[in-house]
Amino acid sequence: MTQKILEVEKLNKVYPNGTHALRGVSFDVNRGEFLVVIGLSGSGKSTLLRCINRLHEPTTGKILFEGNDITNIKGKPLRSLRSRIGMIFQHFNLIPRKTVLTNVLTGTLARTGIVKSIFGIFPDEERKKAMDLIALVGLTGKENRRADNLSGGQQQRVAIARALMQNPSILLADEPVASLDPATSHSVMQYLKKVNEELGVTIICNLHFLSLVRQYATRVIALKDGILIYEGNPSEIDENWFQTIYGEDAVEVTID
Ligand SMILES: Nc1ncnc2c1ncn2[C@@H]1O[C@H](COP(=O)(O)OP(=O)(O)OP(=O)(O)O)[C@@H](O)[C@H]1O
Ligand SMILES: [Mg+2]
Repeated sequence: MTQKILEVEKLNKVYPNGTHALRGVSFDVNRGEFLVVIGLSGSGKSTLLRCINRLHEPTTGKILFEGNDITNIKGKPLRSLRSRIGMIFQHFNLIPRKTVLTNVLTGTLARTGIVKSIFGIFPDEERKKAMDLIALVGLTGKENRRADNLSGGQQQRVAIARALMQNPSILLADEPVASLDPATSHSVMQYLKKVNEELGVTIICNLHFLSLVRQYATRVIALKDGILIYEGNPSEIDENWFQTIYGEDAVEVTID
């Protein structure tokens, strides 16, 4: 197994309307890292994550996943890639009227098939795995609650369990705590840390608050206007770097 799980080389993304969202972005991610991506709104963080799991097509450049070039794959190889790369979102994206268990089980769609899942036909081993993952995110006892009856933090934990159903080797998290209050943000970050440390899943996470970055990231990259301008340890982001990344007039807001 290679040490590098992801290699991004000179990635450019130009949207059809001409917006140049990523400009020559290059970085590597090692297995087991908790990499956090920071930068102002519009700097290209979401675009970067979406290019990695190929929700967006990179314009030029290369992305290697576990040593294989995935920049232009389509069809079956692309579906198989998506099952190795889990994703969670700011707004959780659960099916609101379905139960916690059903939501987690939909993470196996690639294996179970859409028709079977509509009728709730899931193999026993999938149900067992879903229950184990619900326990991992601290929601045992809530399996039959409707997703829309849970708090935001609980919903994000369901989304984490759902993303883990396919045994991804990387989990991409796009602002996973941006809709949550500070205490709940920490709780969700703690579960991501647990997934990272106990299951060995590599994490790439976009975050706004530097205090969270310092606490949870093993390494940080910063984007500014689509350019990678910082790569290093979270502890090395001093006042000067902060101003370079967020602008001269920026003031750090903390989350306790
Ligand atoms: N589908 C799209 N079509 C055209 N332009 C887009 C599209 N998605 C994003 N952009 C533009 O690309 C640039 C980067 O956007 P992106 O969403 O990647 O930034 P971000 O760092 O995630 O911002 P935020 O912190 O607000 O989520 C912005 O100028 C944005 O307006
Ligand atoms: Mg974004």
